[in-house]
Amino acid sequence: MCGIVGYTGSQNAAPLLLEGLKKLEYRGYDSAGIAVVEGNTIHIRKVTGRIANLCEKTGDGQGIPGTTGIGHTRWATHGAPTDTNAHPHTSNDGRFAVVHNGIIENYVELRRELTQKGYRFESETDTEVIVHLVEMYYGGDFKQAVMKAANRLRGSYALGIVCANEPGRIFVMREASPLIVGLGIGETYFASDVTAMVAYTRNVIYLEDGEFAELTPEGVQVYDCAGREIPKPISRITWDIQAAEKGGYAHFMLKEIMEQPRAAKATLAPRIQSGEVVLENLTLDWGKIQKIMITACGSAYYAGCAGKYTIEKLCRIPVQLELASELRYADPLVDEHTLLIVLSQSGETADTIAAMKECRNRGAQILAIVNVVGSTIAKLADCTLYTWAGPEIAVATTKGYTTQLLVLYLFALYAGKLRGTLKADQYHRLVGELRSLPRRMQLALDMNPRIPKLAKKYHKADSLFFIGRNTDYAVALEGALKMKEISYIHAESYAAGELKHGTIALIHEGQPVVALCCNPAVMEKTLSNIVEVIARGAEVLAVAERGNQTVLSVADDMLYVPRVDTLLSACVEIIPLQLLAYYVAKENGCDIDKPKNLAKSVTVE
Ligand code: M6R
Repeated sequence: MCGIVGYTGSQNAAPLLLEGLKKLEYRGYDSAGIAVVEGNTIHIRKVTGRIANLCEKTGDGQGIPGTTGIGHTRWATHGAPTDTNAHPHTSNDGRFAVVHNGIIENYVELRRELTQKGYRFESETDTEVIVHLVEMYYGGDFKQAVMKAANRLRGSYALGIVCANEPGRIFVMREASPLIVGLGIGETYFASDVTAMVAYTRNVIYLEDGEFAELTPEGVQVYDCAGREIPKPISRITWDIQAAEKGGYAHFMLKEIMEQPRAAKATLAPRIQSGEVVLENLTLDWGKIQKIMITACGSAYYAGCAGKYTIEKLCRIPVQLELASELRYADPLVDEHTLLIVLSQSGETADTIAAMKECRNRGAQILAIVNVVGSTIAKLADCTLYTWAGPEIAVATTKGYTTQLLVLYLFALYAGKLRGTLKADQYHRLVGELRSLPRRMQLALDMNPRIPKLAKKYHKADSLFFIGRNTDYAVALEGALKMKEISYIHAESYAAGELKHGTIALIHEGQPVVALCCNPAVMEKTLSNIVEVIARGAEVLAVAERGNQTVLSVADDMLYVPRVDTLLSACVEIIPLQLLAYYVAKENGCDIDKPKNLAKSVTVE
């Protein structure tokens, strides 16, 4: 979704802003713009479409003088993606410019009030009210004007505001949208994501909701909403800058698929010590927990679908799954006996945050499984287990999803032992199996060299069905999502046993069906379903353990996985399906890392 960046220092701001915006492209956007303060003038440049157009329009920023500026990538919500609706937005007197990530919920009433007072609106955006409010409240004190304007806003925002009267000063503010300040030597940055500034500084300050900050080349001063100075700790970004680069791969998605064995090691290694699962800071009141609820969106939700089987089996506790966008309005049956497990790669998904708050108000304990350090969800939870996957740039999650699964497996083993529902020998066998998963994930990558060829066969399909039972069904859900989001081919996942209750009517001559046959307990049943669709003309691409002659004898094509205990297999089974989606999308010439209409971090409802 929208991304914001800002810089104040002694270098030309525009080229740095453009570089920063390029790093935020992965979040998804449809227009972009920058505002640079030079003397008492603010230079604005905006374009519809890609940052490359903005670079072209500004000679890579060299054509715009000034050492303080703000930039924005916009993912349209209020108003179409046009140059006029693109940020930055300016006040009528041209004195202020603002960039905004989030949604101002009370913008209609503010717009009415400001219009009545004579302020002229140029765009259809909710954002524009902010800059007119600042102009209205400005009586010579920039900080006061920003504070007063902020007091009028409802909703979510990360903001950057510059003033032509005060070159070298930027105010930034955060409410339910990420905002990070970067401290350099004689220069200060801000961005909605550390990837935009990690090339320049690794010392950062995470703003909390309700805080705002004044940035100058000398540093930053953070204030609470009443304008009182507050001390803030400086955090150090430790991950390697190359983690956010493509490193020779054609796409971030392929790089991130290939990185999974390494990411898995980073997730597991610190948490398996001398054959025991060790979970840091898991300070839950275990005695109270009577049920577990898992909530998340998209792939994170599907990781929960697979994790449910493992937790229920090993911990003998009911696990309920809820989509966060539904849970938030469901008047849920949640109380102090509920453990809510929240899954999120970004840690900023608006629906997930809202569902979490809803359950917190009803007394649930909350465990978050998150990738982005310092993110909103990580901070809101009672306990957080990081997935340690490193930055994930491609919109389609891969290593984010598999490392979420791994943390769920760790949790299930840990809780199963603690609750006494898991026998010692089973525990030790599964811990050993868990430790071997990075190697097995590597095998799953290596044993499928035919996938690019298979993609040539299947890429013209109008639709694909993904079927499976039990844990295989959970993986089918994620396999279908991967296919549709990056290749734009309609894909539907179905519990194999449900086909004959309606959907089998859609099976026709040549209809591709991807059938997951990795779970030995239900394999024969899935085989019957495979035979049923073949009888109606389907072409079956099966996913099975290498050497499974029975599946081989009925399927048209095969994707292979190594043998893994069913309770831990989803993170291996998904790998050939990620590769299949990737190569099908490549055949179809799709924009794999930035699929149309999608955003990496869904910070609006
Ligand atoms: O950052 P989150 O894990 O909370 O994001 C949730 C979904 O938006 C996300 O998993 C989405 O479905 C993926 N990009 C799909 O690949």
